[in-house]
Amino acid sequence: MTLSTADIRQKFFDYYKSHGHQPVASSSLVPADDPTLLFTNAGMNQFKDVFLGTEKRSYTRAVSSQRCVRAGGKHNDLENVGYTARHHTFFEMMGNFSFGDYFKKEAITFAWKFLTEELGLAKDKLLVTIFHTDDEAFDIWEKHIGVPKDKILRIDTADNFWSMGDTGPCGPCSEIFYDHGEHIWGGPPGTPEEDGDRFIEIWNLVFMQYNKQSDGTMEPLPKPSIDTGMGLERIAAIMQDVHSNYEIDLFANLIQAAADVVGSDDLENKSLRVIADHIRSCSFLICDGVMPGNEGRGYVLRRIIRRAVRHGYKMGANDIFFYKLVQALTKEMGEAYPELADQQPVIEKVLRVEEEQFSKTLSRGIAMLNDVLENLEGDTVPGEVVFKLYDTYGFPADLTGDVAREHNYKIDEEGFEKAMQAQRQRAQKASNFGMDYNEQLRVEHVTKFTGYTDAEGQGNVLELIKDNTLTDTLNDGEEGVVVLDSTPFYAEAGGQSGDRGILEVAGGEFVVTDTQTLGNAFAHYGKAVGRIEKGDTATAKIDSNNREAIKKNHSATHLLHAALREVLGEHVSQKGSLVQAQRMRFDFSHFEPVTAEQLATLERRVNQEICANHALSTELMDLEEAKSSGAMALFGEKYDEKVRVVTMGPFSIELCGGTHVARTGDIGLFKIVAESGIASGVRRIEAVTGEAAIDVVQRQQTLLNEAAVLLKTDTSNVVNRLSALQAQTKELEKTLSATKQKLASQQGADMLEQAQTINGVKVLVTRLDGIEPKALRGMVDDLKNRIGEGIVVLGVAGDNKVSLIAGVTKQLTSKVKAGELVNFVAGQVGGKGGGRPDMAQAGGDQPENLGAALDSVTSWLSDKL
Ligand code: ALA
Repeated sequence: MTLSTADIRQKFFDYYKSHGHQPVASSSLVPADDPTLLFTNAGMNQFKDVFLGTEKRSYTRAVSSQRCVRAGGKHNDLENVGYTARHHTFFEMMGNFSFGDYFKKEAITFAWKFLTEELGLAKDKLLVTIFHTDDEAFDIWEKHIGVPKDKILRIDTADNFWSMGDTGPCGPCSEIFYDHGEHIWGGPPGTPEEDGDRFIEIWNLVFMQYNKQSDGTMEPLPKPSIDTGMGLERIAAIMQDVHSNYEIDLFANLIQAAADVVGSDDLENKSLRVIADHIRSCSFLICDGVMPGNEGRGYVLRRIIRRAVRHGYKMGANDIFFYKLVQALTKEMGEAYPELADQQPVIEKVLRVEEEQFSKTLSRGIAMLNDVLENLEGDTVPGEVVFKLYDTYGFPADLTGDVAREHNYKIDEEGFEKAMQAQRQRAQKASNFGMDYNEQLRVEHVTKFTGYTDAEGQGNVLELIKDNTLTDTLNDGEEGVVVLDSTPFYAEAGGQSGDRGILEVAGGEFVVTDTQTLGNAFAHYGKAVGRIEKGDTATAKIDSNNREAIKKNHSATHLLHAALREVLGEHVSQKGSLVQAQRMRFDFSHFEPVTAEQLATLERRVNQEICANHALSTELMDLEEAKSSGAMALFGEKYDEKVRVVTMGPFSIELCGGTHVARTGDIGLFKIVAESGIASGVRRIEAVTGEAAIDVVQRQQTLLNEAAVLLKTDTSNVVNRLSALQAQTKELEKTLSATKQKLASQQGADMLEQAQTINGVKVLVTRLDGIEPKALRGMVDDLKNRIGEGIVVLGVAGDNKVSLIAGVTKQLTSKVKAGELVNFVAGQVGGKGGGRPDMAQAGGDQPENLGAALDSVTSWLSDKL
């Protein structure tokens, strides 16, 4: 049976759906709220909290096809791409999940039946591994399924104990392998030849049982669960009877497209595989909001793009090419991932800009590297060279390593690391990766939020925290955190700032300056005035003025979002937002600056919707229902199954947990104050609403009024008046400069009268303090013209500074060189100079000696003339 990649994905869903599994869409490649993870690297990531028991869903069985990137962090395949038949930076992992529902026996049975019955794989081509002590799994495979004993291999390494990261859900696993046949080199798992390509792992069934802690201990999960992962590309290779993943339908098309854009017909070339692999990870990462940068996720993306570009260059590409492949990718995968098709223009733009930047230095860097490789003694490229290539030409170390490897050299990674230390420290500081989720102080409570409707409410003090430690009391003046069971305070989320206000208790009050979430609890940050104790009943009062201002700004971001899509196009998607009382900030994908005209239209559209005074409605809906109603959701945001949908008339409908005005008219006025670019392909608009918007408008009006008064006109004539003034100024400058010239020439004639004659030659030595040194040149030219045959020396003394110039008419230069003359004088005022024989200039720093120096010229010249 030959099946396309899309057919296999469909069959997988159909099969598990028919066995009661809820289909769940792939989550973003940027894991939501999980600082332990660089990129989504397995289907189970989005269910982590469900396994841990801290999140509940309405279903206990799920099926998904998850986009994954393994290019950094615990699971990293970047360096293998292009060198093996089955490694990718980006791949799709199909999986079925049980959250405390079925366990080993059903998981194994489902998988076996899918492979052998649905896909029709020959049983004798399959073999399985189990964790060495897992007798239960052994028995299921042997007795229940009927796999011969010698095809059930016990493995005692981490290969058969899967964990998501250094901490988190984990458990023993059983892997299913496919034998591609004797003609390919390689041995079964657990043998020294296991790294060959003959026996390929296709499906990993993880029996989730533990939550690994940072100290290595294993806490049992609330209920044994199932997590499985099957690489779609690997199973497609089997179903299409090819050995390498790069030969499957999807890749064959991408490789052909890559060959076309780099202008090559060498379809077997490994560089084309690298490019075809990398366009997938790069496009999906950008689609999920990652932008190329110098730190964290952005740097991984940059490395992958640059690696792809280098391979294209190697294949002979002579123009920007990588972005052109997005279209081919959309054709292959846009149907399964509509977000990819939506974001195509942004992805293309970002890739284009990044490649343009890199291509400027690429060929020079490659030339330098080739030079180094030709003259290299030993087999290692020194760390300083790797660093120089990084620093000067933007070559990530793995790219240099990639080139070196092609010439059978390696790079000195340690030396590079040393040279990189300074940059790395900066990168580490700015990034949170590596932070341990389990080490953050966590509280198990769930706080009820009453602030959608109420500004005040009663709550019990469940916990107090001081210096990241639980405590029983906060005394007068102490700063800390208060956790209540119920509160009207909004905890910062979705860009909206946390509330401020007061918690009143019997012994005093607690002044809240910020509110944040702590797990499922709300943490009020602030300072005690008086005494607050665990167990107190608190009257919680938010700062209502502050909240009202926040609401206006939050509702305005929704209107702006909708207006942006209307005015700039559907490609606009939200990349971030900040909603405070004073102002709002909205970041979105767009590839060029928003013009003044577009900004004016945006402002007008938002204000029209404010005037329309739509009533806001909020409604809880199922996620899928909300999305199909057209509600805008954010990529990279993790939503619960039940989501809150905020609607403003027919204009805006968005998923949002924030607080909003009752009617759009409450926003009052919307005024944009700034537009800027914050990364390639991402723009930022800053705006204000309500009173703050009125302030801005009034300030601008005041400025205009003041300008009108100064210009002695009315405001409507300010611009005309200003341009008339500008023209007048230009005219005056012209007249001034002509007058100056005339004056100088008059001065020159007067000055010549002071000239003396030495041996028949006219010599003018004079001091002109107050003259612009810049004017000296013109004066000397003029004086030389008037003098006929002669010599001119001019000096100007200013603050701690002397400027000198000497001019000698042509015929006299055989006797006196202007350069020598000016240096003779300059030497006496602490300087030196130079120039042509007929004109030379010099400076000095001893104005007090200028008089004597000029006086000495006459006798110096007497000797020469
Ligand atoms: N989570 C398991 C894996 O990634 C299925 O292999």
